[in-house]
Amino acid sequence: MQQLQIKALQLTPPLILAPLAGYTDLPFRLLCRKFGAALCYTEMISCHGLVYDMKKTLEMTRTVPEERPVALQLFGADPDKMGEAAAIVSNMDVDIIDINMGCPVKKVVKKGAGAALMQDRKLAAAIIQRVCDNTSLPVTVKIRTGWNHTAIVAPDFAKMAEDNGASGIAVHGRTWSQGFGGTVDWETIARVKDSVAIPVIGNGDITTYQEAFDFLDISGCDGVMIGRGALGNPWVFTPGGTPETLPERMQGLTHHLQLIRQYSNPDRILAKIKNHAGRYFKGITGGASMRRQIYSAPTFEALMELAQSF
Ligand SMILES: Cc1cc2nc3c(=O)[nH]c(=O)nc-3n(C[C@H](O)[C@H](O)[C@H](O)COP(=O)(O)O)c2cc1C
Repeated sequence: MQQLQIKALQLTPPLILAPLAGYTDLPFRLLCRKFGAALCYTEMISCHGLVYDMKKTLEMTRTVPEERPVALQLFGADPDKMGEAAAIVSNMDVDIIDINMGCPVKKVVKKGAGAALMQDRKLAAAIIQRVCDNTSLPVTVKIRTGWNHTAIVAPDFAKMAEDNGASGIAVHGRTWSQGFGGTVDWETIARVKDSVAIPVIGNGDITTYQEAFDFLDISGCDGVMIGRGALGNPWVFTPGGTPETLPERMQGLTHHLQLIRQYSNPDRILAKIKNHAGRYFKGITGGASMRRQIYSAPTFEALMELAQSF
């Protein structure tokens, strides 16, 4: 099987859970690791939150040995603060620091972070350099194909990242202006792969294990990153694929809920848990009724009982 190697880290299969704010918390990352993802990315974490010791930010950095390897994603637009945050992360139990240069969300872009950095190469280079100077961990950079269809800059941008010390590039095959719509541009992802010597991880709209390997072949990439396709579907990381029956889906959900119970305070985040849970029953007979029951569960334990009712 094809192997993805980022510095000394050997990742097999070359399938990675993408960073998804609001979703890729510790329990979900552990679940995906158990189902076969070789590496998981945290949600994006603010460099300022880390540097200023903010409680909520620090909670997001929690890892456990069973989930290693794990990549922690930083976002920010200030090279000094990003460097300081990288130094802090270097003392944590993580394996990779990733820099977010692809987030299209207004709140982030307005401050010059995320995808906005693809429009300011000098600042992006300074951030990558400063992060690399402050850590001995491998640093990856997650980018988009460009700002819009007239500015497809990813191949050159990736080369710039490599020249400034990055050990890997993840590319979501859309521009900033596409957001999450339109088609994924695997041709540009393949050009990114050709432009650098460091590993390239392709990303965008992969929903099955087989599709992931097809796109590895098509693009020549070293790895594939899966985001939304893993929600309610950790089986995307297994060769057998997503089970078709309600009891099997419930088993997957039960596994997820057990991890949530073990690693968080479930009744405090019930709405978030229901959001995850409802996704396990897409596209199967009995799914709609199951989702209705999930959304009306009054407590986490009621949800657990429901998941275990088969
Ligand atoms: C709800 C949501 C949250 C996301 N959060 C992040 C994030 O924190 N950092 C990041 O680099 N990308 C983030 N992304 C982008 C994904 O990592 C990924 O690049 C994108 O969803 C395309 O891959 P997919 O089609 O496999 O989901 C997010 C996307 C979604 C839908």
